[in-house]
Amino acid sequence: MYGQGTFEDGQRQPAVGTARLAHFYDRLDSIAYGGDYNPEQWGPETHAEDAELMRAAGVNLTTVGIFSWAKSEPAPGAYDFGWLDAHLDRLADAGVAVCLATMTASPPPWLARLHPETLPVMADGTRLHPGSRQHWCPSSPVFRQYAVRLVEQLAKRYADHPALALWHIGNEFGCHISRHCHCEVSTAAFRRWLRARYGTLDALNSAWSTDFWSQRYGDWEEIHTPRTAPSFRNPTQRLDYLRFSSDELLDCYRAEKAVLDAVTPGIPVTTNFVPLAPTLDLFKWAREMDVVSYDSYPDPHDPDSVHEAAFGYDVMRGLRDGQPWLLMEHAPGAVNWRTRNGRKPRGRMRLDSWQAVAHGADSALFFQWRQSRGGAEKFHSAMVPHGGRETRMFREVTELGTELADHPALLGSVPERAESALLLDWPNWWALEQDAHPSADAAMLDAAHAHHRPLYDASVPCDVVPVDRDWSPYKLLLVPNLYSVTQETADRLSAYVAAGGTLLMSYFSGITDEYDRVHLGGYPGPFRELLGLSVEEFDPLPEGGTLRFGGGGEGTLWSEELTLEGAAPILTYADGRPAVTRNAHGAGHAWYLGTRPDPVTMRAVLDRARLDAGVRAPEVPLGVQVRTRITSDGRRVRIRLDHREGTVTVG
Ligand code: GLA
Repeated sequence: MYGQGTFEDGQRQPAVGTARLAHFYDRLDSIAYGGDYNPEQWGPETHAEDAELMRAAGVNLTTVGIFSWAKSEPAPGAYDFGWLDAHLDRLADAGVAVCLATMTASPPPWLARLHPETLPVMADGTRLHPGSRQHWCPSSPVFRQYAVRLVEQLAKRYADHPALALWHIGNEFGCHISRHCHCEVSTAAFRRWLRARYGTLDALNSAWSTDFWSQRYGDWEEIHTPRTAPSFRNPTQRLDYLRFSSDELLDCYRAEKAVLDAVTPGIPVTTNFVPLAPTLDLFKWAREMDVVSYDSYPDPHDPDSVHEAAFGYDVMRGLRDGQPWLLMEHAPGAVNWRTRNGRKPRGRMRLDSWQAVAHGADSALFFQWRQSRGGAEKFHSAMVPHGGRETRMFREVTELGTELADHPALLGSVPERAESALLLDWPNWWALEQDAHPSADAAMLDAAHAHHRPLYDASVPCDVVPVDRDWSPYKLLLVPNLYSVTQETADRLSAYVAAGGTLLMSYFSGITDEYDRVHLGGYPGPFRELLGLSVEEFDPLPEGGTLRFGGGGEGTLWSEELTLEGAAPILTYADGRPAVTRNAHGAGHAWYLGTRPDPVTMRAVLDRARLDAGVRAPEVPLGVQVRTRITSDGRRVRIRLDHREGTVTVG
């Protein structure tokens, strides 16, 4: 997939990705710039000004219609798209392409009145009400029927509209109803999903270890979604429910996509992912998208959020094996949903946008174009703030639009492949964070950030890869907390090292199979030989506790009683017990971290493992990031982000 872009028949052909993405790229001259546009909140005078200001700001793409269901179908089956025609025509005339939303993110109030059964039910039985957004049960056939009918109307009406560049299905699937729904319809759907997965009740009983606590099922009808219960719920039931939830929402996406594929086969399709969250198995979802889209809201009050954003972008780039992705939303300034909403000082918005582009984004899109006058998001920043055009915000927006347009070759350029990768697996994330574990401190995102951070601080690019990818292009593979793993994946990891790869794995890995049943015979089950050690007991640290290393620095969060069976100690605790080890395996090496070293020691360990692997780091100071994208004519464009000074250089 890491090819060069070409131009055929006057169309910009994306370097990577599906063929019909050409339709999207062909409508843009440079990195997509703009944001969510909600014209239904405004009157004609504002609309006229919008067109003028968009031109001034260099906007070339807007996302329209995300929350427009109630306006477009004011009563069941009574469609009114006249208002939208006018906006799309005006945008087309202004040279602004449209990412058209399917409007299904938030159903109109009449749906809840006619069909209260479409409202989602929480684990404790509480049914949620309309009056906010995303109030629909993902398994409801009634919701899907209305949604699909609306999408059909939209697709037929706008199939040939000159502004239409891309479809945007729903909005942030799983954001508010991330743990799906527990109504009777969802319960029946969960049972169907389980039947398809296990075939027989015997197989389910075995996978779920139901001989524990007298949970053995004798009939499918006895099985429920994991509702509120007196004590710990069955972990495999919960794990399967999370798999089911992601799949069920994916089915909603698929139902809409099937309509779009049939009516507008040449128009690419996306949906925007909520900032990195456990809700959806994104590697599974990304296979069904023409291009991945992401919403990112780093907290200006939190210095670590810059790195966390970078990690999210590396995940997005990894979802489709290096294909550029779209930053569908970020904030020009403050958001409105934190306890305290920090604004972005001068230059920060520019740096944030370029950071995404440096990490492979083909767009810098915002939530939203014009700051709402009323509603729950009126204090969320926008490209055009309440103060209008004569504001610092709008001036910076205009400067950034002009600057991005000055780099047309970046659009569709290929992010350079990293030499290092980090393994991320959603089902493992779900399993790792179940309750009743040795410590609640084993958390996936925290672990992923801690392992990614030392590479980031050294400005070493790191791709994020799933368990089923070919890892052989990478010299170094980081595997934080791979708690739940199949024998097959474990064998592939061993083969990766045997063939010469360097692997760095951390504690609480190789513990259970895909059904959350422990790999017997001693921890870390299938990794003992690869790592050259065994773990007899976990010894998690008390809150805030640390363990000194002999040579300085300390372990945090977790420790283990390691017995070395061939591995050499790299770091030991003050009492001489091994904490970090390295084992030769075939032509490669496997490192193991039995604790989470403090950040300085973590950096030192990662630097050594990186040298072991032969991964180079550029000569740049801490706080500076350099990333490279390769244009269709083979030019290497370096984007240098200086987070100390708040500056960007491109060239
Ligand atoms: C999400 C949603 C938007 C908006 C923003 C505010 O990303 O998709 O509709 O609510 O948050 O930050």
